[in-house]
Amino acid sequence: MTELRPFDLTDFDTLTGWFPNEHAVFQWAGPSGGFPLRHEHLQLASCHSFSLWHNQQLVGFGQFYLRHQRAHMARLAIAPHARGQGLIQTLLNGLEQTAQQTLAHHGFSLFVLADNTPARQAYERAGYSYADYPDVMPLENCLYMLKVAN
Ligand SMILES: CC(C)(COP(=O)(O)OP(=O)(O)OC[C@H]1O[C@@H](n2cnc3c(N)ncnc32)[C@H](O)[C@@H]1OP(=O)(O)O)[C@@H](O)C(=O)NCCC(=O)NCCS
Repeated sequence: MTELRPFDLTDFDTLTGWFPNEHAVFQWAGPSGGFPLRHEHLQLASCHSFSLWHNQQLVGFGQFYLRHQRAHMARLAIAPHARGQGLIQTLLNGLEQTAQQTLAHHGFSLFVLADNTPARQAYERAGYSYADYPDVMPLENCLYMLKVAN
């Protein structure tokens, strides 16, 4: 059984174990991350934060918050042992449905680094398309993607 649950800090150490070095943290969280990762890097006070559980195991993490009137998906991750099975689609579906019930927004958005091919392929499959960011891009080599809400 796979389900989305509010993130609990007791799972923080499991989550940090998915990112073995500074590069892995940067690919995942951009400049808001740090190595070693600390609680404050997750910006839990300003984001809605969730875990994805599959067969009693933590397999995913993701957040959203309001950014430029969109429900902006952030710090999306699937556990290394669970990658390549499409679980990111389950995570995104759950986050998008929860955002629909939580925020007043116009569709969904996210940032992805241009060289993060697995993430870009997953987001394209999930229905996200590349778009111009309506402000100064906060980071080099970064792409902005949008998805229309159903
Ligand atoms: C990006 C990520 C969330 C994708 O999640 P996922 O559930 O593995 O996604 P998918 O199963 O759709 O696989 C996506 C791509 O990953 C690749 N992949 C397959 N197995 C993999 C594995 N064991 N490890 C890494 N990538 C793998 C595949 O190439 C696949 O693309 P393709 O099938 O079109 O060639 C996941 O790789 C991840 O957590 N990466 C580290 C954190 C990160 O970069 N987050 C995104 C920040 S924007």
